[in-house]
Order: sequence, then C-alpha cells, then structure tokens
Amino acid sequence: MFKNLLFLLSLSLIHMHADIDTYKEGEILYAQKGCNGCHGIHGEGLHEYPVIMNKPKWYLVKKMKFYRGKKGVMNQTAQIMIPFAENLNDDEISYLTTYLSQYKEDLDAPKYDIEYESWGDGGS
Ligand code: HEC
Repeated sequence: MFKNLLFLLSLSLIHMHADIDTYKEGEILYAQKGCNGCHGIHGEGLHEYPVIMNKPKWYLVKKMKFYRGKKGVMNQTAQIMIPFAENLNDDEISYLTTYLSQYKEDLDAPKYDIEYESWGDGGS
C-alpha cells in the first residue's frame, strides 16, 4: 500500500515536471526581472528600448546570450542590457524567449480601461 502511494506520488512529480508551462514561466520572469520597466508590459518598446515581442526565438536567444557574454562589439545602448542578462541561466533565457516570441495579449486579463465601463443603458 505504502509502495503504491510512493509510486503515485513519483508519477505526479514527473508529470508536474514534464508539464512545466514555459510560456507562463517566461511571463513570470519577464515581470520578476523588471524587463517590463524598459520594454513595456506588452514588450512594445519605447524610445531606445526596442520592441521585443513576437520576434523569432532564435534571434532573441542570440541577443540575450550576446548581452550575457559581454563579448564582441557592444555600443553604449547595448550595455544597458548587460545587468539584466548576465544573471540569467540558459533555462531562464529559454523561458523568457518562448514567452516573448509566442506572446499573445491576454484578452481575459482584467482591464482597467474606462472604455470598458458601461454608462447608462447603452442606448438599447
Ligand atoms: C534598463 C532598461 C532595460 C531593461 C530593464 C531591460 N532591457 Fe532589454 N534592452 C534595453 C535596451 C536599451 C536595448 C537595446 C540594446 C541594443 O541596442 O542592443 C535592449 C535590447 C533587448 C533585446 C534585443 C532586442 C532586439 O530586437 O535586438 C532583448 C531580446 C531584450 N532587450 C530583452 C530583455 C529582457 C528579457 C529583459 C529582462 C530580463 C530586459 N530586456 C530588460 C533596455 C532594457
């Protein structure tokens, strides 16, 4: 009986691991690491901060590893990225770039936009 329980428990642990939602992990990291502070909550960019959403994953990975490696010719703008890339491990870069490359606006997320309030009877 105890053995069976252990077996079930280990199955569910394996299952949890295999099921890791890389998109979700990336979304969490994106906020946790403060990427949104410069690139915007939708990765839409602003001024010298480039748009980073919906770009190919291979390209994003290459850029993140470039900043992390601190090698090669890097201009001053690129150096801004070093502190945000240097402490990421390969898994974190993978999660972040999965999220960024597959990004879809979450239409179910709560909206605080005044336009979504209904005023009066809507004229119907
Ligand atoms: C302090 C502002 C700042 C923060 C915070 C920041 N970035 Fe950046 N990021 C930049 C700037 C500036 C560039 C442009 C660098 C260049 O010219 O190569 C850039 C470039 C990038 C690029 C390359 C875009 C392209 O099209 O070449 C990626 C990918 C990226 N950032 C991802 C991230 C991620 C992921 C995080 C969070 C871990 C993050 N950034 C946090 C400022 C920031």
